Amino acid sequence: MVIDSWQRRIKIEKLNGITVVRKKNKKLRLIRDIILVFSYLLISIVLIHPSPPPKIGIQSQKNEGFYTRKFLKKNSIITPNLLNISDFEITEEFVGKENFYEYASKNDGEELAYIIGQVTGRLHNVGFVFTDNKSQNYLVDRDNRIVRTDLVFIQKNRSVYARSIDIGSFLASILNFEYSKYSRLEKSFLVGYKNTINYQNSVYLSIILRNILSIGLGDKKMRIIKNMLKKTNFNQILV
Ligand SMILES: Nc1ncnc2c1ncn2[C@@H]1O[C@H](COP(=O)(O)OP(=O)(O)OP(=O)(O)O)[C@@H](O)[C@H]1O
Ligand SMILES: [Mg+2]
Repeated sequence: MVIDSWQRRIKIEKLNGITVVRKKNKKLRLIRDIILVFSYLLISIVLIHPSPPPKIGIQSQKNEGFYTRKFLKKNSIITPNLLNISDFEITEEFVGKENFYEYASKNDGEELAYIIGQVTGRLHNVGFVFTDNKSQNYLVDRDNRIVRTDLVFIQKNRSVYARSIDIGSFLASILNFEYSKYSRLEKSFLVGYKNTINYQNSVYLSIILRNILSIGLGDKKMRIIKNMLKKTNFNQILV
């Protein structure tokens, strides 16, 4: 099976009897990364929070390596086993059958949304952010555990903007669910996050960033716009 993403070609195949996922950079990867980083910077300037973008190129590939995974494990964040890494490709163990977005479209998902909030909070507690915190970057394994994949844009950053991008990109990626479903997942995620962070934290740019990013992510744009105009749990929980 092949999944075609913006930056990589993802193949699921058998290797020595185990199922693995191979992620190979596309030829245009660097150009596409430059566009992403440029947008990141531009939005940060528009919101009057200029913020250094995550590193791209070889450095972002290094983020996928053993060192990052060990660091995340130390902070109770599970990642798939890495089998091989080069400058252009990684091979990791296949985890379960669904990412969180797919899982939540068929199941309740609230408990796992809470865990994703915890995972995001744990990373923020140690001064790092994921930057690309889409629900599709969380996998649900056979034991219903949350496993984090796609580590490309992890960076050390304690700014309000960088942290708000994590909250905003997760919410943006589920904003095209039916409103009542979206609202329940939003609440669980935010409560999980709030119960985990251990410092005075401000992520007040999250909702504006959610609205900006949601236009770029996901289909069903009409529903996204409708949901955008409805009530959010953000103010009750995080401010
Ligand atoms: N280890 C894995 N096991 C099972 N499925 C996986 C695994 N890694 C990735 N996938 C599937 O492939 C999808 C894309 O993976 P990933 O996010 O790593 O690629 P990407 O190139 O960074 O994509 P994007 O640019 O869309 O974020 C995931 O949403 C998930 O559905
Ligand atoms: Mg991804």
